[in-house]
Amino acid sequence: MKTILDVANLKDKKILLRVDLDIPVSDEGQIEEPFRIKRQKETLDYLIGHGAKVVMAAHISAVPSFANLIPQLHTFLDYEINFLKTLPEISSYLEHYAGPALLDNIRQNDGEEKNDKEFAKQLAQGFDVYVNNAFAVCHRNHASVSAITELLSSYAGFLIEEEIASFKKAIDAPMAGKIVIIGGAKAETKVPVIKNLINRADFILTGGVVANDILKEKGQDMGSSVVDENSKELLAGLDINDPKLLVPEDFVVFDNKILDIGEKTLQKYADVVSRASVIIWNGPMGLFENPSFAMGTQKIAEAIANSNAYKIIGGGDTISAVSKFKIQNSKFNFISTGGGAMLAFLAGQRLPGLEALGYYKSAQ
Ligand code: 3PG
Repeated sequence: MKTILDVANLKDKKILLRVDLDIPVSDEGQIEEPFRIKRQKETLDYLIGHGAKVVMAAHISAVPSFANLIPQLHTFLDYEINFLKTLPEISSYLEHYAGPALLDNIRQNDGEEKNDKEFAKQLAQGFDVYVNNAFAVCHRNHASVSAITELLSSYAGFLIEEEIASFKKAIDAPMAGKIVIIGGAKAETKVPVIKNLINRADFILTGGVVANDILKEKGQDMGSSVVDENSKELLAGLDINDPKLLVPEDFVVFDNKILDIGEKTLQKYADVVSRASVIIWNGPMGLFENPSFAMGTQKIAEAIANSNAYKIIGGGDTISAVSKFKIQNSKFNFISTGGGAMLAFLAGQRLPGLEALGYYKSAQ
């Protein structure tokens, strides 16, 4: 996989930089969690520092357009970011380049999610080089991630390299002492991780809806707790009675719903965490947004933060939880910008965005 260090001469090169700026935004229009923005800075600094002309492309789900967020980007990136509302504006901007720019929400274009070649051609117009630094979107076969790489010489940014190296370090570490903690909702994206890693780790600790689904299949009465209707199909092929697969033994229940892990489970999980040498964590243990149900997630987060293991965490809710509990990012060896992309990578799936950069060829 070629990286930006392989670009022969960056001076005056016109670069299309795919970044992930899919960030939470408050009702008042304030960026709530700038982590993903800040993680773009190293690559941006390198490209700009070497004299490249950079136009960024990104999507956002919280609001339809980046228009009102542009002034805030400056705070986190230290550059004035110019705003390009539509695709046709790019070519002339590159001719009269005036500093880094961001094209508006790329998913406003029909061709993006269809990985449309014609759209990719329009997007490529005027650029010399494509750089993908958006690890978080590499599980999507979209035009600004995949089709574009057939039109421009393509390179990975520093963030993609770092994400892959950090995950590989954890996945390839010896099984003894390795644990994986999986919680939260969207069990369909998390069960494949359990299936892929259960025989490569000492323990998989579960919480949230993922644990609810397993408990349901074990025959436990789940009351009104959130469970997936198709939990049986989801869990097919996984031995839910495998002693490596830990599920909560007691709970915090409100309104007949399981909303957090209980004290006994917490003790047991914290003990497993304290003895681990590699920890991978994605997904909260309960409804941590409500202080009455935050204890499980907070104590597990603190136990991980205080352990001497090699620690990787990721996922939007996990990052929000860590910042809510005021745990310093430096307590973890690596915090992934990926949500779905992190889970797909851990599940052993081939990510289209990495495939397009030649990662799997080079990794063989
Ligand atoms: C994410 O939020 O994980 C990435 O930005 C990808 O977004 P998506 O799930 O909407 O494709």
